Amino acid sequence: MTAGMDAVKLMKQEVGRAAASRVQSGSIVGLGTGSTTAFAIQFLGDRLKSGELKDIKGVPTSFQASVLAKQYGIPLTTLDEIEKIDIAIDGADEVDPQKNLIKGGGAAHTREKVVDALADLFIVVVDSSKLVDKLGTTFPLPVEVLPMAVAPVMRAIEKLGGKPELRMGVKKDGPVITDQGNMVLDVDFGAIANPVEMEKILNNIPGVLENGLFVGVADIILVGEVKDGQSSVREF
Ligand code: 5RP
Repeated sequence: MTAGMDAVKLMKQEVGRAAASRVQSGSIVGLGTGSTTAFAIQFLGDRLKSGELKDIKGVPTSFQASVLAKQYGIPLTTLDEIEKIDIAIDGADEVDPQKNLIKGGGAAHTREKVVDALADLFIVVVDSSKLVDKLGTTFPLPVEVLPMAVAPVMRAIEKLGGKPELRMGVKKDGPVITDQGNMVLDVDFGAIANPVEMEKILNNIPGVLENGLFVGVADIILVGEVKDGQSSVREF
């Protein structure tokens, strides 16, 4: 592992710990997906184990989140059993200065949007490489699509000026299949001038389940940074 990779891991770990430390006993917690949130889930489990935190329940946003929660001893619940989510912790692939996000690098953005949007407080955990001036400049926009509608949705996205690519599996031949049994298009739009409009336009295409633009959903962005080998977390 290179020194650079160590720094990114350290940033993710510290920001995950910072978010987990904000959860209070008795809370219903939305558990996001991805490598940064995985640290938050681990630290929540540590706090439960030490007795510092009591009586929390997690609402997982993916199969990964539910596996990790079980591994770290966090009891789970579902949206059928609760009325509200107190706090959600989730990662992001890009964050703009207005706290709008691109999510879906782990193909979990559909369930993530349901859970994160329901939370009274949504904390986003990122390392500093995720901060951008304009969404779409470093990461293509993920769009979850019904398998039978992939071809027409690709054509509709091309008409909007996007370049869609079907996301392919790693160590599995063929496309990535989401936790809901759908497929994902990664769309290069370049810089997205109006994320509010783009989120609505994409979700209006028949066959699109959800896109990775999270507009006006995030409350707090915690950013992990490493300078001169020292890690720190700042609120953005
Ligand atoms: C999954 C997501 C993740 O939160 C996002 O991809 C960030 O992941 P990581 O913390 O591993 O960089 O949206 O769908």
